[in-house]
Amino acid sequence: MTRKKSLSIVKKINKLVYNSTFVYPLVIKDGQGCYLEDVDGEQYLDFTSNIASCPLGYNHPELNEIIKRYVGTGAHKIAGQDFYCEEHCQLAEKLLSISNPNSKVFFINSGAEAVENAIKLAYRRNGPLPGIACINAFHGRTLGALAFTFSKDVQKINFPEIPAKRIKFCISDDDPEIDIIQKIASEYKLSFIIIELIQGEGGVNVASKKFVNNLYKASIKYDIPLIIDEVQSGLGRTGKWWTYQYYDIKPAIVTIAKALQVGAVVFDKKFEPSKPGVLSSTWGGGSRIDMAIGIKTLDIIRKGKILEKVNESGKFLTKCLNDLKNRYDTIIDVRGLGLMLGVEFNKKEIRNDVIKRLFKNKLLVIPSGIKTIRIFPPLVITDEEISKGLDIFEKVLKEINH
Ligand SMILES: Cc1ncc(COP(=O)(O)O)c(C=O)c1O
Repeated sequence: MTRKKSLSIVKKINKLVYNSTFVYPLVIKDGQGCYLEDVDGEQYLDFTSNIASCPLGYNHPELNEIIKRYVGTGAHKIAGQDFYCEEHCQLAEKLLSISNPNSKVFFINSGAEAVENAIKLAYRRNGPLPGIACINAFHGRTLGALAFTFSKDVQKINFPEIPAKRIKFCISDDDPEIDIIQKIASEYKLSFIIIELIQGEGGVNVASKKFVNNLYKASIKYDIPLIIDEVQSGLGRTGKWWTYQYYDIKPAIVTIAKALQVGAVVFDKKFEPSKPGVLSSTWGGGSRIDMAIGIKTLDIIRKGKILEKVNESGKFLTKCLNDLKNRYDTIIDVRGLGLMLGVEFNKKEIRNDVIKRLFKNKLLVIPSGIKTIRIFPPLVITDEEISKGLDIFEKVLKEINH
């Protein structure tokens, strides 16, 4: 199969469009369950879920029904912060029903904008003081969010910075910098602390419980809001609605996007600006189809007991990946929670080669950090599909070990 049509589209796109973060020449046409189909009719087993944004896989009958419902709806997308629609109300109700009590929500377009608005809520209350973020963090590429993103140098060169302080992202309770926040917060006035509890872009690194607990304690003691970025890890990906539920904390502000289909900031009511108009946007709260899909996605996850399923599938997948690690020296670590897993290789070049070869063998994965790959299958993946993916993985590992 030459994949002629795909390659021709990729060639044209590369001429017309800035080459941002394309991983391989996959031109998506269709999808079914955990499989994507390209414009040449080739089928790929998807272990990416479009970077966690298609949690229920593809062609889900209940989501299709929603899309059909909007055929003929004249006003399918409205200026949602200027005019009201019912989907705005329903999505807010559903999201708040699984969030901390005493919260409110603000909808926006993307993950980076969710982060922008979260930090604006914090600045509004505490003033334009430095914010704390972690080394290797990824919070988006808009200029505000970018100031707190440190996953790759290329994202930052020549852009202006707003005040930020970087701290180590501790993965072990024994890390000597586990309570660095205490020192910083006692010396400086700060606006907020922002953290991903599992760094998605930065290497699938899981934060140590003690480290997060120290951040939380400092956030209470010094009255600095703790912003938990769940853009990639939220809505069941790790086996709970929110990854922060694995930690003994109550975040002040949570950012959400991807699986929800729209961006959202859920915040404790005390951060609500006293005047209207502090936050707004044209499409936020107005992308009616996306919000309707978000509402249905929440329903399906709840009614289909998908969180339990993610825990079981995650255990099975982790076990299988560890079996591979035990047999192939090129793999040096397997980590993560639920179906947000990372496989680290001994060298970046090997990781890159593995991704390319997996693509050739019709298994989709994406890179993370320097030498890790993300394994983020749809939450509805079956054990048979996991086994099939891992057979392909092993075939590729054998090829590169020869
Ligand atoms: C943790 C986290 N925060 C923020 C963002 C930015 O989201 P978006 O790409 O929708 O702007 C991402 C995107 O990958 C992310 O993973």
